[in-house]
Amino acid sequence: MNRINSAKIVGVGNYFPKRVLTNYDLEKMVDTSDEWITTRTGIKERRIADKNETVSDMAKEAAKVALKRAKLKPKEVELIIVATITGDMSFPSSACFVQAKIGAFNAAVFDISAACAGFIYGLAIANSLIVSGLYKNALLIGAEKLTCITDWQDRNTCILFGDGAGACVLKPAKNKDEGIISSYLGGDGREGNLLMLPGGGSYMPASHETVDKHLHYIKMKGSELFKVAIKKMTDASQIALHKIGLTCKDVDLLVPHQANIRIIKAVAKRLGLSEDKVYLNIRKYGNMSSASTATALNDAILEGRIKKGDIVVLTAFGGGLTWGAAVIKW
Ligand code: ACO
Repeated sequence: MNRINSAKIVGVGNYFPKRVLTNYDLEKMVDTSDEWITTRTGIKERRIADKNETVSDMAKEAAKVALKRAKLKPKEVELIIVATITGDMSFPSSACFVQAKIGAFNAAVFDISAACAGFIYGLAIANSLIVSGLYKNALLIGAEKLTCITDWQDRNTCILFGDGAGACVLKPAKNKDEGIISSYLGGDGREGNLLMLPGGGSYMPASHETVDKHLHYIKMKGSELFKVAIKKMTDASQIALHKIGLTCKDVDLLVPHQANIRIIKAVAKRLGLSEDKVYLNIRKYGNMSSASTATALNDAILEGRIKKGDIVVLTAFGGGLTWGAAVIKW
């Protein structure tokens, strides 16, 4: 049997809810302005899922498109991983719901929780499981309904987040040096207090008090995260490249987590990458946590920004703290 060196992406699909919430809509909800949001974050609008639309509903739509493009039937799928922090329920996992909704009954199923770095953690896991020979394909989805854990009275956070899902199908790469050729994952649990959702888990089970105190919403120390995000995404990208003897000069496109345009520009500057080598979709969608990197990669592919042989670097940073980078040779 031929040795498998890496997995490659063979089909992608995105799903965004129809409802658009603009900065002007937010001006009517909290003390903010389009000007502040645009200059401080780069976000103009974001998508909001319907009340009854769950993470697995959005993941299912993205997955169906990715499977069709990969020419893979649901019953042929061997592994489903959903990266999310807003799963339908604590359990069953959202991957189980997706499996049932698309009819992929031969697949192993689990979720991963690595916040905004979830899609990159998922890529590394799916790649390893395919390289090991355990699975011949994997369906990886970054899907979030962040608007259901957003405090719409908190102007520091409610302007940032949106909903969506990005899916990709991975298979063994035929050529030695293509596909996910390097990855690097990191974390620092000591800084978890900078970004968390404190209520509803075993630490603080749901009660009238947790609801009254808004503890089921995202709590974020934004300015403290800002500098760490720049450093960790820069370092992670450099480490992932260095591991395989590449440098930033080899990079054709950077697909960063879409948390803040100022963070992205600072990372690109430190890596020495010009604007045309950085993919952005933050303006239209805001921060969708694990769905941000997934949908940005997929949009870049669908818009023809990535061609065969290109070196693409994905990097993300988020709650945990967690961070990571993946290098893909197209
Ligand atoms: N409209 C108007 N003014 C605002 C708003 C708003 N929506 N939000 C905050 N302000 C005010 C603040 O009250 C403050 O006013 P003050 O000086 O009078 O106190 C001022 O603007 C500056 O506030 P900062 O928080 O210092 O603003 P900053 O420039 O840091 O931008 C932001 C805030 C956008 C949150 C930024 O810090 C950021 O992007 N941080 C990183 C977020 C991140 O990367 N998170 C990790 C990934 S997310 C995940 O894992 C789910």
